[in-house]
This record gives sequence, C-alpha cells and structure tokens, in this order.
Amino acid sequence: MKESVDRLPALVTGGIGRKIVALDAVDSTNTFAMELAAREGEHGTVVIAENQTKGRGRMGRGWISQPGLDITMSVILKPKITVSDVTLLTVLASVACCRAVRETTGLPVTLKWPNDLMVEGKKLGGILTEIRAAAGTVTVVVIGIGINLNSLGDELPPEVRKRATSVKAETGKIHARAPVIAAICDGLDFWYEILMRGENGRVLDAWRNLSSMLGSSVTVLSGGEVLRGVAKDIDDRGMLILELPTGGIKVLSSGEVTGVGRE
Ligand code: BTN
Repeated sequence: MKESVDRLPALVTGGIGRKIVALDAVDSTNTFAMELAAREGEHGTVVIAENQTKGRGRMGRGWISQPGLDITMSVILKPKITVSDVTLLTVLASVACCRAVRETTGLPVTLKWPNDLMVEGKKLGGILTEIRAAAGTVTVVVIGIGINLNSLGDELPPEVRKRATSVKAETGKIHARAPVIAAICDGLDFWYEILMRGENGRVLDAWRNLSSMLGSSVTVLSGGEVLRGVAKDIDDRGMLILELPTGGIKVLSSGEVTGVGRE
C-alpha cells in the first residue's frame, strides 16, 4: 500500500488527494481524520489505512475490510454549508465513488439509497459521512469510504457474505488501488465544485442516473419502522420519496433499503 499511495498525489488532478496520510494500521480512518481535521488537517486531505481494526459502518454497524486488499479511506472537507445540506455531500460522494469504480474497473456499479455501491443486488461498498458543527454551521465533514476491491469476502460472517461482493469476485481480476483512489479523489473534486457553485440539481440527477432502485418496490427500515412502497425519487436534499401502498407519500431522511423489487 505504501508504494502505491506515495504516487497518489501525482495521479490526482484537483485539490482533493494532494495531501495523503498513509497509515499501516488504525482503528477507523474516519475517527483519525476527524481528529486530524481538528488540528492541522486541511480541506482535501485523504487518510488511507492498510489495516482498519475497528472500521465503522452506518447505523452503528462495523465495517470489515481485508488488510492490503480493500479500500478504506476518509476525506476531510471543510465546506461552508449548513447541517441540513450535509446529505448532499453524501449524495455527491456516492456519485464520485460509483463512477470511479465503473471507470477504473469496468464494473457496472449502481447506487442504492442512501449511499450503497451495489452490483447485482450485492453490496460492494459504502460511505459513512460524519460532521463536526457549531451553531448549525458545519466546520468539518469527513467522508469515509469503504470499497471491497481485491478481497473475496472469506473474512466476512456468512450472513454478510451472502449480501456482499467485491470487484475481484465480480471481475476475476486484481485491481491496483491507486488508480481507483485517484479517480475517487478527482470525482469528489469535480462534483464538489459543482455543488459549491449551487448546481445541486446536476449532482442529484447524476445520482438518479446511477440508481438501481428508483421506480422499484422496496422495503425500508427507517426509525424503527419497516415501510414498504415504491421508491419514487430523491428530493432536492437527497431524501427518499416513498409511495406507500395507500397512495400516501413518505419522505425519509435516513434508513436502510433491505429489499428491492421483491415485494
Ligand atoms: C456503510 O455502512 O455502508 C458505510 C461503510 C463505511 C466504511 C468506511 S471504511 C473507511 C471509513 N472508516 C470507517 O470506520 N468507516 C468508513
């Protein structure tokens, strides 16, 4: 990892990824990045770990990755936005990651709300966005990205293995991490500039075009409730618009889609 990470700043074209902090082992790159951001960590700094010992996922879950094989990285952003706009950064990060993996590996990755990278109904990667804010204003955003690249899932518990996949499992090939990480950084840079110009609609449309679930029947676990309906769209903040069997509409700010097209 050290070797390929060293050439990353030369591979990226924008500001994100120009500064890399490469770690052999860390509990969580997100925790490390948040602490770094409070001290000298500048906007665009990327923290990458060879081995993450206590990786964290969404909804209080853990995140398991294979040392040396997968991608575990966190990006420090310092945007001038309000807390209510943070979801848009997660939307743009999903778009950047999805397109980067497509472009560098050829795999037809799609997006499942809110920010899962999917291949044929199996999870390939995920994003964990965490913020520090004061008086409603965001001071730091850390975008944590985990992508199953070259592992084969052998280390995952059986129930997770059924629902997960990797680029290696899908393509049969080993893929170097640096070009994928560089493409993610460039994508983040590109879409971040668009969002900062206020062109939110372009980011949302890019997400819609990569989504594998809009228009499908879905089951969503949200706020302790299991909801079934049709995933109609995402709104201008990235929330899921669900049409219930009664015809009513529910707008969800968080949750997990557990079934697509089966109900
Ligand atoms: C999810 O649950 O889908 C989100 C998974 C996010 C995992 C990544 S790996 C790098 C970063 N550090 C963490 O502890 N989590 C994120």
